[in-house]
Amino acid sequence: MKVLIATHNQGKIHEFKALLKKHQIEALTVKDFPPQSFEVEETGASYLENAVLKALKYYEVYQVPVISDDSGLEVVCLDGAPGIKSSRFLDSHVSFETKRKALIQLIGSNIPAEAFFVAYVVYYDGHTLLNARGDITGLIIHEERGTNGFGYDPIFFLPDYQKTMAEISDNLKNTISHRAKACEALIKKIQLMRSGL
Ligand code: IMP
Repeated sequence: MKVLIATHNQGKIHEFKALLKKHQIEALTVKDFPPQSFEVEETGASYLENAVLKALKYYEVYQVPVISDDSGLEVVCLDGAPGIKSSRFLDSHVSFETKRKALIQLIGSNIPAEAFFVAYVVYYDGHTLLNARGDITGLIIHEERGTNGFGYDPIFFLPDYQKTMAEISDNLKNTISHRAKACEALIKKIQLMRSGL
């Protein structure tokens, strides 16, 4: 089975490829298709709505089964911010290094601050729309640690491992992360659908 990963985010593509490979699902990216010019505006009021918007648009353009996601970082003492706006925090063109520094400043004396990553993933093949959710809890810390991963990973500390999400291996992140949990749950639903149950 082949599925198009509906994103340009290289960090997510890297993770999805590994997650799908475990289940013998081949991950395609937009680079496997002739160039298309389109944008998906994240106008939804929730992660799920945004993930559905992406899945429908990518299917409309490429006409192959797609998996999309919408995810974010929620900091408890900031009432869940940056949340659905995590990639647009400050502005979409601002570097993640700057976003991480600004977030640490915003949290101020509440650091280390309880936070969690959330991911909603959606599958769409022109007929069936499936979705699943995953999350992972951690602490936002005041210093950057590690070089793996992407986005807010270097300041997201996992007490169970005494490491940030950017210090753990790709393999471990792909077992415990919000995206990994959501993806595993989605794949179960896809398998059930394909087996006709
Ligand atoms: P979107 O799903 O494209 O709207 O972007 C989600 C944003 O949430 C990313 O750009 C990151 O800022 C953040 N994010 C989501 N998942 C992760 C992750 O696994 N590590 C670090 N940051 C993440």
